[in-house]
Amino acid sequence: MKVEVALAGRSYDVSIGAGVRHQLHSVLEERCPDYQLCVIVTSPSLLEEPWFDFVPEQNVHFVEVPEGEDAKRLEVLESVCEELAALNVSRSDVIVGVGGGAITDFAGFVAAVYLRGLRLIQVPTTLVGQVDAAIGGKTAVNLSSGKNLVGAFHQPVAVLCDDETLATLDLRDRHSGLGEVAKCWLLEGRDASEIPSTSLEQLIHLSVALKARIVSADEFEGGQRALLNYGHTLAHAIEALSLRRSRDELRHGEAVAIGLGFAARLAYALDRVDHSVVANHDDVLSRFGLSSAVPKELVTADIVAAMGHDKKARHDLTFVLAGPSGFETVTGIDERDVTDALEEFRGEK
Ligand code: GLY
Repeated sequence: MKVEVALAGRSYDVSIGAGVRHQLHSVLEERCPDYQLCVIVTSPSLLEEPWFDFVPEQNVHFVEVPEGEDAKRLEVLESVCEELAALNVSRSDVIVGVGGGAITDFAGFVAAVYLRGLRLIQVPTTLVGQVDAAIGGKTAVNLSSGKNLVGAFHQPVAVLCDDETLATLDLRDRHSGLGEVAKCWLLEGRDASEIPSTSLEQLIHLSVALKARIVSADEFEGGQRALLNYGHTLAHAIEALSLRRSRDELRHGEAVAIGLGFAARLAYALDRVDHSVVANHDDVLSRFGLSSAVPKELVTADIVAAMGHDKKARHDLTFVLAGPSGFETVTGIDERDVTDALEEFRGEK
């Protein structure tokens, strides 16, 4: 299956399916015919995976970066750029990011800034990477003050989403990806009863097609791309608070699932939707096997304060919410309304 992200002269295909990683060679020939060096950015543990069998034998250099979010640091960026300089990487060469969302975000940012921009191919190997992170050109590294605060829009020339790479994922990483899939399912208004008969490949396709459509219409998030942040206001807040406690307490997609459950309740509390919308969100989340319980250790007042700091919130409480005319970004929501809805969601009142 192929989905095009249509961006005039910068359009590209997202290929989805078992074995598509082996298209790397032909994609390099087609999209980067003049390349002399292909720099694969990945992590040491991924290099051990059985599916890491698709890299051309010649004109390749591997750059190994730390696992997960540890890759997305400015120090790592500096050392990788020094490595590229030592290799004499030129503007005609190509960066290939192979890994989860953290690695594709990092590889994308290297490609965006080294020599003011190199061509980029993404090979996302987690579900969250395949349905969200590696598509659409958002790239970034983190600061200690927050995730993704230093970044750039830099579109790849191709994305290869191979579901064979998902076979070795642990259960939590798989679940985490389903949080973003549930978001797409809800944004598309699909019926919860169809979930059991939809294959993983079809779920990836549905999510990629939605994202491609939105990115094609609003590449730089001036409007409708913000809808992709559905569930993310609460998710970012509880992720940030959980990260301070433990690195592995909450994965991104697990937080998104909780944020989706809450967004439906907030829309209901603000009289934007009737109770069937809340029931449908709960049904979708439970059919994907996702929990919407906010971790008990987090304090409601801290969560509300953290939501006000969200980098997309423009200094007030902003949520993507369902409403009479579909989903939209709603700004300036009263803090008391959010607190009341969150306390009720958590069974605190
Ligand atoms: N992850 C949301 C976006 O790419 O816009």
